[in-house]
Amino acid sequence: MNELDSLVESARQLFAQSATPADLENAKAQFLGKSGRMTELMKGMAQLSVEEKKSRGAAINVAKQAIEAALTARRQALADAELQLQLQAEALDVSLPGRQRGAGGLHPVSLTLERIEGIFGSMGFDVAEGPEIETDWFNFTALNTPEDHPARSMHDTFYVEGGPAHAPNLLRTHTSPVQVRYAVQHVKKHRALLDAGQAMPEIRVIVPGRTYRVDSDATHSPMFHQCEGLWIGENVSFKDLKVVFTDFCRTFFESDDLVLRFRPSFFPFTEPSAEIDIQFQTGPLAGRWLEVAGSGQVHPNVVRNMGLDPEKYIGFAFGMGPDRLTMLRYGVNDLRLFFDGDIRFLSQFQ
Ligand code: FA5
Ligand code: MG
Repeated sequence: MNELDSLVESARQLFAQSATPADLENAKAQFLGKSGRMTELMKGMAQLSVEEKKSRGAAINVAKQAIEAALTARRQALADAELQLQLQAEALDVSLPGRQRGAGGLHPVSLTLERIEGIFGSMGFDVAEGPEIETDWFNFTALNTPEDHPARSMHDTFYVEGGPAHAPNLLRTHTSPVQVRYAVQHVKKHRALLDAGQAMPEIRVIVPGRTYRVDSDATHSPMFHQCEGLWIGENVSFKDLKVVFTDFCRTFFESDDLVLRFRPSFFPFTEPSAEIDIQFQTGPLAGRWLEVAGSGQVHPNVVRNMGLDPEKYIGFAFGMGPDRLTMLRYGVNDLRLFFDGDIRFLSQFQ
């Protein structure tokens, strides 16, 4: 093998050993670069005669072309291998099962709140909201609840910063404060009629929302829902409360023979007062009674705090527990399950 042939051969071998494009470019420089071996050979021709230059030059050119061809082939091979690796890395296994995207849905208590709003809406009730951080005045005092009432105890109520030191703000313990908030707005809106001694449109409203107490067992959660109801007019009686609430429950539970129990009770803001119980029809607690609401005829002191004359205006209020209604409807035996966020439990209500 002559000198040029072995040079071409060693270039081929070095190119073949180059595993990356960078290695290959270094190998190329050894042969074709400025101080590469081919360049050295060209320089060495200076002393040769014209005839020798001709034949030597032609031979060097052939060798150079062979090295360039080997280089191009190796570059292509490396690029192909790189592409192959990339294709393998990005390969899709079309036989894999697809990822499921859960359909999502409403929480069972939200479903109950929607039903409540629909049914009371059809009975002409407005829907209102109130703040979850409430003042002492609206949560207690305006509702005729005395300073020493047990509901005001730290053991029962979550107090928060803000408000006067002797009567700090709190997470509302019921939706009843919105009775007074809503009525005050209503009275303001119809001030002119009242001042003219004319009849004011009746107050008829429900107030769904979150409420908070230091409570936790199968029928009590520290955060729970209530839905207040208030109907004030010139001639609204306790009998209307029984009719409206019974009608609501029969529609809600889709049962015409559902029995309600009005149990005499006490609230500072109603007189007379009753708690309302319903029997489980289904589930592990079938036959058992569960309290679903407090209720009563609005106390004259509360009517006065609404800005109305208790000699003229009278009505009823109730505060029910939508979480309890949801338990009864689906036969669930622990209310706290609704707020654990376990998707296996919640997805059963879709
Ligand atoms: C009240 O909260 C009164 N404000 C209701 C009322 C309104 C009376 C208007 C008269 C006029 P009570 O504490 O009983 O009352 O609660 C009412 C309902 O809320 C209960 O019957 C129950 O259904 C629900 N409830 C009370 N505490 C919890 C709790 N910790 N977890 C879940 N539900 C609760
Ligand atoms: Mg009660």
